[in-house]
Amino acid sequence: MHPDGPRLFIEPAGFSERFDREPFGFSHNLHTLDLFSFDSLIGLAGRYANAPRDYFVAAAASSAATEFKAVAHSQWSVGEAMQRVGSDSVRVLLKRPENHDPRFRQLLDTLFEQVIGMRGGLKGERVVRLESAVFVTSATSITPCHFDPEIAFFAQIEGRKNYHVYAPSSMSETELESFYREGIVSIAEVDLPTRDPRLEHVYALEPGDGHHQPQNCPHWVATGAGRSISYSFVFETDATRARNRTRAANHFLRRAGLQPAMPGVCPSRDAAKAAAMRVVFPIRRRVNNLTAKLRKV
Ligand SMILES: [Fe+2]
Repeated sequence: MHPDGPRLFIEPAGFSERFDREPFGFSHNLHTLDLFSFDSLIGLAGRYANAPRDYFVAAAASSAATEFKAVAHSQWSVGEAMQRVGSDSVRVLLKRPENHDPRFRQLLDTLFEQVIGMRGGLKGERVVRLESAVFVTSATSITPCHFDPEIAFFAQIEGRKNYHVYAPSSMSETELESFYREGIVSIAEVDLPTRDPRLEHVYALEPGDGHHQPQNCPHWVATGAGRSISYSFVFETDATRARNRTRAANHFLRRAGLQPAMPGVCPSRDAAKAAAMRVVFPIRRRVNNLTAKLRKV
C-alpha cells in the first residue's frame, strides 16, 4: 500500500483543463485494499438485504446499443445475485457502500479530498451529492450505453473491462435539454449509433487502472473473460445542478420557438433560467401526480 494510503495517481499537468470536460485515464492502488476482496464484498452485500433501494441487480445486455431499461433486472436478491456472478450473466451494483460500512465512508472522503485538492478546492460550490458504488459483474457481460448526470472517477479492482466513453460534446444541446427537463437524477438513455466515433475513448482497464468521466459522457462497458469488480465515486454540486436546470429552461424556451444560449455563454441569464426552473419543477411534479391520480378515477 502507498504510504499515504488509498490514492488515485493522476497526472497534475492539464488536470484543471480536462476536469469535467474530457475523459482521462489514471492509475490507483485501490485494488490492493482488503475491503474489495470478493469475500469481503459478499459480507457487504449481506448488509443490503433490507435496503432494496441501495442495490440494483440486472442481466447483461445483448449489445451496447440495447435500451438500458429494457434489460431484465431485479430478478434476484442481492445475496442470490452475488452467488450467481460466477455461473450466470449478472450485474450487481452496490450503491452507497459508505452507508453500510464505515471503511467505505473513509475511502470516499479520502479520494474526494484528493480530487478536490487537485482541482484547487470547491471554489465556492457546495456539494449536494457525493456517493460511491461497487460493481460486481460476470465475465463477458455488457452494460448498455447511457450517461449519468454526475461527475465520476472510476477504478478497476479485479478482472478486465473495456470501457467505451464519449466526450460530453458527443451529446447535442437538444438531447441534454430533453433529459434535464424532467429535473430528476437518473440514468439517461443514449442512442449509440448516432454518436460521433471520433469522440470515443476506449479504456482497456485492468486492476490498478481508472479514468475520469465528466458529466454527460455516454458510455458502455464490456467485461473480459473473468469476473470483474470496479469502484466509482460520483458527485454533483449546486453549480452542476443549476446548469442542469438551465438546460431544462432552454428546452422550454426552444419549444416556444426561441434560440436559447447554451449554459456558460451568459452566466446572469443562466442563473435566471435555473432559478425559474426551481419554481417550475415542483409545480410540474404536482401536476403530473394529479394527472396520474385523475387517470385512476
Ligand atoms: Fe454509468
